Amino acid sequence: MIAESPFMKNLLADLDKIAKSCASVLIHGESGTGKEVVAHAIHYRSSRSAQAFVKVNCAAIPETLLESEFFGHEKGSFTGAINRRLGRFELASGGTLLLDEISEIPLSLQSKLLRVVQEQEFDRVGGSRPIQVDVRLISTSNRNMKEAISNKLFREDLYYRLNVVPIYLPPLRERKEDILPLAQYFLQQHDPNKIFSLEAKQKLLEYSWPGNIRELANIIQRTMVLSSNAVIGAEDLHLEEPVTGTSPKKLFTLKELEKKHILDTLVAYEQNRTQTAKALGISVRTLRNKLSSYRE
Ligand SMILES: Nc1ncnc2c1ncn2[C@@H]1O[C@H](COP(=O)(O)OP(=O)(O)OP(=O)(O)O)[C@@H](O)[C@H]1O
Ligand SMILES: [Mg+2]
Repeated sequence: MIAESPFMKNLLADLDKIAKSCASVLIHGESGTGKEVVAHAIHYRSSRSAQAFVKVNCAAIPETLLESEFFGHEKGSFTGAINRRLGRFELASGGTLLLDEISEIPLSLQSKLLRVVQEQEFDRVGGSRPIQVDVRLISTSNRNMKEAISNKLFREDLYYRLNVVPIYLPPLRERKEDILPLAQYFLQQHDPNKIFSLEAKQKLLEYSWPGNIRELANIIQRTMVLSSNAVIGAEDLHLEEPVTGTSPKKLFTLKELEKKHILDTLVAYEQNRTQTAKALGISVRTLRNKLSSYRE
């Protein structure tokens, strides 16, 4: 798990504490920010790591099948139930259950989910007695849950039960220090001998990554298919939108633009001040003064 930005480093430092407790975790963030990766990391750092890690995608399963998917069913409980089937809660017993895209659970099932969360017991569909389980719950959402609650699409009591430990994963454009380490990690996975040119690094840093880390992984993969160069240049990277600077989304003052350019250049040279100053055509002393003025 790559974590170079201050935000991700802090999260990583907290992850063992979070893993140690049994409290329900709700991971919230845009698509592709690494919610599933973080959920995995929590499970594998916990005392439950030798037990099952079971995932259920609440958005992908039709409403009519979701209850049986969660809780299982007894033979003959409905047309097509030819055998007893265990649900994901039972399969995850002693381990961790990942409820992916939790906001998509229909209201009818939310009350049943609340019961398991509160009482650690549920009924199989068509079952005659409750079944006890010990499952640690991790949920993910890329929707605004507060909005779903005020629109009466999600039960507030269930939300608080699932959100005992909230984790927010910011979009990649808000943790730019992770962009190059991630890009390098994906590149190395394909070919450890390839590197990015400085211009390519700059282009990666300036792009807004609407699809976050998943998009970055895809772009590197596509680049590797199309380019046989040992040094990946800016022209090898086919990004979806023009880089910032050519799009007039935000107008910067000259001072802001200078600061942004200096900080981006620092990242491109991996915080090496001598090389950064040289690239910017200023002295190291001037660079140092400018950087300390940004801290004031
Ligand atoms: N910190 C990380 N280090 C390395 N790879 C990562 C990291 N975070 C995410 N990835 C990779 O990025 C991709 C997307 O991550 P993941 O599936 O966890 O995102 P997600 O937030 O669950 O997305 P979605 O909302 O679309 O389900 C995966 O290929 C994953 O391996
Ligand atoms: Mg996911």
